[in-house]
Amino acid sequence: MQLDFTDKRVLVTGGTRGIGRATVAAFLQAGARVAVNGRTAQSTTSAIAALGNMAKLVPAPGNVATEAGCKAIVAAAITGLGGLDILVNCAGVGDAAAIEEVTEAFWDDMLAVNLKGAFFCTRWALPTLRESNGNVVNLASDAGLMGDLGAGAVYSASKGGLVNMTRAMALELAPDVRVNSVCPGYVDTDMVRRDYIDKAYDPVAAERALMDYAPMKRIATPEEIASAILYLASDHARYITGSALQIDGGTTAGR
Ligand SMILES: NC(=O)c1ccc[n+]([C@@H]2O[C@H](COP(=O)([O-])OP(=O)(O)OC[C@H]3O[C@@H](n4cnc5c(N)ncnc54)[C@H](O)[C@@H]3O)[C@@H](O)[C@H]2O)c1
Repeated sequence: MQLDFTDKRVLVTGGTRGIGRATVAAFLQAGARVAVNGRTAQSTTSAIAALGNMAKLVPAPGNVATEAGCKAIVAAAITGLGGLDILVNCAGVGDAAAIEEVTEAFWDDMLAVNLKGAFFCTRWALPTLRESNGNVVNLASDAGLMGDLGAGAVYSASKGGLVNMTRAMALELAPDVRVNSVCPGYVDTDMVRRDYIDKAYDPVAAERALMDYAPMKRIATPEEIASAILYLASDHARYITGSALQIDGGTTAGR
């Protein structure tokens, strides 16, 4: 199946690293023009320079944790691209914390980035997405489909909220704008290396445990998640809305 995004205009939040960067690269390769969001102008500019296709990339820096940040990011993308067909809400934070370690600030920060950010980026992109009959893909998680002991209650709450917000938005926006989520298991990115492997007492054992966690006995590559995002964003998925696509090596299939 050939995915062709020639002349499509895409915004990827959190597009400077990990799954976001792999998604930007995959859209570029499929012919799209892409607005890249990083938290700062500097991280955005260096990510664009490293991706190396400056003519097709537009900077859209800003913090998704506030409505004003989301509005500015979306405005920069729409201005730079001359419209918008696809929004990928990928920016996220993944620190795990035990319930008794959670402060109000930790709760507020995680929900602001992982849930409120996706809501307000979509809200401000909506008039343009309605014009283009566009679509939205949200980066949820296997932790949005089941309680995840490793990721903790707050991350699980943020991603569970994102899965259900996706469904509610899909109902409200059908048939004009499709809204879907992807639910990865562990993916080999900075988030997992930093928060789950490097922090562990025995990083080698921690990495082995992550590999054993999924029935497929390995963690995903960022490119494998990007492939699913592109599929949902493409015309091949034109009858799919409100879905939560598991890309977790079988983790949520059952025990
Ligand atoms: N890595 C995994 O195992 C995994 C699994 C399931 C879901 N996810 C989700 O996928 C998404 C990407 O994760 P990743 O592993 O690539 O993480 P990462 O840490 O490698 O990248 C996260 C990206 O989000 C950006 N970001 C964070 N806070 C932001 C803010 N306030 N404003 C703007 N940008 C911000 C970062 O700058 C970075 O570009 C996240 O939503 C994450 O929750 C990741």
